[in-house]
Amino acid sequence: MTPTTGRDGATGPSVVVLISGRGSNLRAIVESQPPCRIAAVISNRPDAAGLAYARGHGIATEVVDHGAFAAADDPRAAFDAALRQAIDRHQPALVVLAGFMRILTAPFVDHYAGRMINIHPSLLPAYPGLHTHRRALAEGVRLHGCTVHFVTSTLDNGPIIVQAAVPVHAGDTEDTLSARVLVQEHRLYPQAVRWFVQGRLSIEGSRVRLAPPAGSPVPAQDGTLVVPPLD
Ligand code: GRF
Repeated sequence: MTPTTGRDGATGPSVVVLISGRGSNLRAIVESQPPCRIAAVISNRPDAAGLAYARGHGIATEVVDHGAFAAADDPRAAFDAALRQAIDRHQPALVVLAGFMRILTAPFVDHYAGRMINIHPSLLPAYPGLHTHRRALAEGVRLHGCTVHFVTSTLDNGPIIVQAAVPVHAGDTEDTLSARVLVQEHRLYPQAVRWFVQGRLSIEGSRVRLAPPAGSPVPAQDGTLVVPPLD
C-alpha cells in the first residue's frame, strides 16, 4: 500500500482514479490531458493492468487489496475505510471510478457526495449491475450505450452527466457490442472529467446542469437519435 512517485508537470485540481482491471478509460482520460493533476491511481486488485499503464506515465499508484480484509468483522466497511484513507491522502477534488468493480458502502459514498463519478456500460437507468451487453442483446433493444453519472449509494444510480447511444446490429455479439460502446466510453469520460474540473457541472435535484464554457453561448444542437434511421 505504499504510494509511488507522482506525476511531474501537471497542474490543476487533484483527481484520484480507481480501477480494477484493464484501465482503458483511465488511459483515455490521461491521453485527453485534462486540466487537472491525476494524483494517484488506486486499484483493489494487485494485478490490474491499468496500474502498469499509470506507472509508465509517472502517475502514483497504490493497491488496496479487498482480499486483505476478508477476516475483518465487517470486510466491506474495513476495506472502504482503508480505501478512503488512501484516497484522502491526495485531497482530491474529484474521485473517478473507471472500471472499479466493488460495491461501496453508503458512508463511503456519502463522504464523496458530489465529487465522485462513475462510468457504466448501459443507458441508465436500464441495466444497472453486471452483464449489461448480454442483457441488452437478450431483450432485443435497438439502442444501447453508456452513461457517466455522479455516484450515490444506490448501485449505478445518481445524477446523469452525459450519455452516448449506439445502435445494436443484427449480428452483434457481446464482444462486438461492448467494443462499440467502449469507443463511446472513451469519448464521454474525458469530457465529463474536463467539465467537472472546469467547474461547469452542478447537481439540481436528480439532474445535472452543464454550464456553457465561460464567455460562450449555449451551442444550438438537435441531438435527436432514431435507430434504425427512418426511411
Ligand atoms: C467499462 O466498460 C466500464 O464502463 C465498466 O467496466 C469497464 C472498464 O473498462 N464499468 P476499463 O478498465 O476502463 O478498460
